[in-house]
Amino acid sequence: MVLQHLASRRQDRRRGSSPVKPRVEANDDRHFDAWSRTYDRSPTQLLFFGPIQRAVTAALKQRAASGRVLDIGAGTGRLLDRLGSAFPGLALFGLDRSAGMLASAHRSRPGLQLVRGAAEAIPFPDESFDVVTSTVSFHHWSDQPRALAEVRRVLRPSGIFALADFSLDDLPRWGITRIVSAHLFEGAVPLGERKRLLEGAGLRPVDERRALYGHWIPLTLAERAPAPADA
Ligand SMILES: C[S@@+](CC[C@H](N)C(=O)[O-])C[C@H]1O[C@@H](n2cnc3c(N)ncnc32)[C@H](O)[C@@H]1O
Repeated sequence: MVLQHLASRRQDRRRGSSPVKPRVEANDDRHFDAWSRTYDRSPTQLLFFGPIQRAVTAALKQRAASGRVLDIGAGTGRLLDRLGSAFPGLALFGLDRSAGMLASAHRSRPGLQLVRGAAEAIPFPDESFDVVTSTVSFHHWSDQPRALAEVRRVLRPSGIFALADFSLDDLPRWGITRIVSAHLFEGAVPLGERKRLLEGAGLRPVDERRALYGHWIPLTLAERAPAPADA
């Protein structure tokens, strides 16, 4: 299924005449809608997504997270579930583009407040969250600068954004593997570029660690910086 999805993403990028991003997004959504049926039972939960979510929870614990949290690309709501157990009293909101993922989250975790929508146009008012999180979703975002500006907009002053995702630096980049990585993880950026994108959006990196087995998947905590006029 993953290979089919990647092949159709490539075909879409080659067809020059039609608008590429909406087609790529529609392909992504179909892929995640299909995956949502088995997502929670996948062995990747144990080996990959689970450890990353635990690392995000531990990092936020050190900062005593409280108030309202928004998880972007929330999938079936597993990170929100963990955050709810770690921080009772936190109000939990999730945003995702995939209707299938959200339907699955509604079925298994009815207590969550879930909204369908995109990181690039977050359907919440300014300064409405204390914490924004996102795990293994950023490299799918079709307009990362715009989405990060949206993250800053919905964060309260000094609010925290926890971003865990692949970095291009960690992926094999020699010979043929370089081409495979570029296709498999289209949208993944090197860490330096991630930092520049965050800073460009007014999100100041304050902590960085590895979310997966201490080696892979960088987790960056970034604080909402004051706008130049308020500084
Ligand atoms: C690999 S899943 C990760 C789900 C969840 N964060 C987890 O750790 O289990 C990526 C999710 O990001 C969502 N997604 C991708 N691009 C998005 C965007 N631009 N806005 C909102 N959600 C997006 C997908 O629909 C999918 O549910």
